[in-house]
Amino acid sequence: MALVKIAPSILTADFGRLAEEVRAAELGGADMLHLDVMDGRFVPNITFGAVVVDALRKVTRLPFDIHLMCVEPERLIEQYAETADTINVHIEVSPHINRTLDTIRRMGKRAGVCINPGTPIGAIEESFPDLDQVMVMTINPGWGGQQMIPAQLEKVARIRRLLDAGGFPAEIEIDGGVKAGNIAQCVRAGANVVVCGSSVYNPAKPVAENIAELRRAAG
Ligand code: DX5
Ligand code: ZN
Repeated sequence: MALVKIAPSILTADFGRLAEEVRAAELGGADMLHLDVMDGRFVPNITFGAVVVDALRKVTRLPFDIHLMCVEPERLIEQYAETADTINVHIEVSPHINRTLDTIRRMGKRAGVCINPGTPIGAIEESFPDLDQVMVMTINPGWGGQQMIPAQLEKVARIRRLLDAGGFPAEIEIDGGVKAGNIAQCVRAGANVVVCGSSVYNPAKPVAENIAELRRAAG
């Protein structure tokens, strides 16, 4: 089985030194960078948008995994045409998901759908053929540093079984509460990509050390 990819989220990084923090992840061996765009409507917080993502594009070669926690995400997609590798939209605010995923793919980007803990798998099943990845939220989105909701790993395993049974190549990304202590379980459940926010950016240890520890623990 392919090694899991580690996608640090900058949400708990030092925003006053963002370029440095991003470079630290790249030097530390991150596989991609997870960028949490929050609009203050779908989730209470507001983080950053395309202007900041454009600036970060100039300081790293890491692929960008854009997580749009925004209502009407289809209106924002084009702003990431130059910078994103993957654009992920939430199913809960995407009534026209087929068209939205099609738009993302026509832009030459990988298309992902995010699913909240309370949303049933059935809401995304029809989209399996159109997806490059499914992002399973193992927390309720909005903040970094929350505890993983363990039952969501069972949901990951169910999605993995459905994708495999249908022959769909979509990857599974887990977002929320991933730590060295549970990353192996995420991989066992069927994740190919793990978002690591506070387990990478925290005051306890340097970024590179945290990434190395996560990779070791992933097995
Ligand atoms: C929260 C974001 C996550 C967040 C994860 O809504 O989607 O990407 O940064 O942070 P941790 O890894 O600390 O749970
Ligand atoms: Zn995220």
